[in-house]
Amino acid sequence: MSLFRTKSVDHLIRASQNQHGLKRALGPLDLTLLGIGAVIGTGIFVLIGKGALTAGPALMLSFVLAAVACILAALCYAEFASTIPAAGSIYTYTYATMGELAAWIIGWDLMLEYGLATSAVSAGWSGYVQAFLAGIGLHLPAALTAAPGSVPGVDTWFNLPAFIIMMIITSVVAFGIRESARFNNVMVALKVVVVVLVIVVGARHVDTANWTPFAPYGTQGIFKAGAVMFFAFLGFDAVTNAAEEARNPARSLPIGLLGSISICTLLYVAVAAVMTGILPYQRFAEGIDHPVALALQLAGEHWVGGFITLGAVVGMTTVILVMLYGQTRITFAMSRDGLLPKKLSELHPTHNTPFFNTWVIGIVFGLIAALLPLDFLAELINIGTLAAFTLVALAVLILRRTRPDLPRGFRCPGSPYIPVLTMAVCIFLMIQLDPLTWICFVVWSAIGLAVYFLYARRRSNLHTTS
Ligand code: ALA
Repeated sequence: MSLFRTKSVDHLIRASQNQHGLKRALGPLDLTLLGIGAVIGTGIFVLIGKGALTAGPALMLSFVLAAVACILAALCYAEFASTIPAAGSIYTYTYATMGELAAWIIGWDLMLEYGLATSAVSAGWSGYVQAFLAGIGLHLPAALTAAPGSVPGVDTWFNLPAFIIMMIITSVVAFGIRESARFNNVMVALKVVVVVLVIVVGARHVDTANWTPFAPYGTQGIFKAGAVMFFAFLGFDAVTNAAEEARNPARSLPIGLLGSISICTLLYVAVAAVMTGILPYQRFAEGIDHPVALALQLAGEHWVGGFITLGAVVGMTTVILVMLYGQTRITFAMSRDGLLPKKLSELHPTHNTPFFNTWVIGIVFGLIAALLPLDFLAELINIGTLAAFTLVALAVLILRRTRPDLPRGFRCPGSPYIPVLTMAVCIFLMIQLDPLTWICFVVWSAIGLAVYFLYARRRSNLHTTS
């Protein structure tokens, strides 16, 4: 039965009141910007090309489908996050409702989402920065441009720019949340301006004839592209990882979650409409690594291309920042519970951040970014996140039954229908993903179970106190 032991919800709420925890420095605007910072990045600047080839102009609907899954999940998230505003997000919520084993599995799977996303996005960042440097005649030695085996026919060893950006972001996170939030706010504003510029300038070149046929691959193409483009929304849940550092979380968390998804959905649908209106969708195959820049260049808007490169670089930088931040807070929470070594939850005496933890995570995922070709990971990251969302919705239902009395700052409307619908939509999207993705996901989860039974179970605070 110890597998199902749960942390006390009341204890969590008390702990989050913060006597010995993290500083409460973030308001609703900071949280919305933190969400947008995590969301707009590789998905809209790089993956949109694949999306257009998979769904055609109906990619606009794929974005809506992915957004529906995220909004449903956010309603469930917001209820949890406003009830238990403790660091560690879904991991913490699962611990309080479904028990330690489920919490461990989800914490482990979240490493697929946050940790590997920092590595994947750093590798994408590196590609854009190198394209920019090449534009002004600067070239790195080939061996330092990419991970081993990632460029056919080129002897590459180490992705140096990806490693460097990971180290820079790690320093920012390690030195404190106030500094990170301020840095993030400026970067987010810049990238939103760039995306809006793409829409406004691109709209002048739209030929509506390119929208016919609208859905060349039918509903199957729309669903498949929705499951892949889900990546473009991934990260909004990082807002909940800041729960323990938010002022008035009951109000600011729902605003941060729903605000960031809604703004991104509008921008994404508009970018998809403009992109597939400028070019016949098949032509995105000509520049699958830089589809947005490609469309504007082919439309003759060369100067906008430079801004897009800047926006992509800035966009990806903020995604790495928020993902790294989220990963350190999840590891912090797992360590505080005894499931990971205690050193990972020590706070720095002056910066009041999990300093050691941040550097361990930064270096590990920095090395992964430098040494592994990660393009294929988008689907793997998606499946881990969709599984997490499914569990959040289930946990809302469980906590409504087991603790109806708890004060909830925000209540998910339409329960049980909305949580059930959330699970259905997330599982539907998971089914659209590749069988190989499923195999990798199962293997990763099996490794996690081995670590749990061989290490974490006996080290857990609940084990030592029971
Ligand atoms: N949503 C994030 C991105 O598109 C992960 O880069």
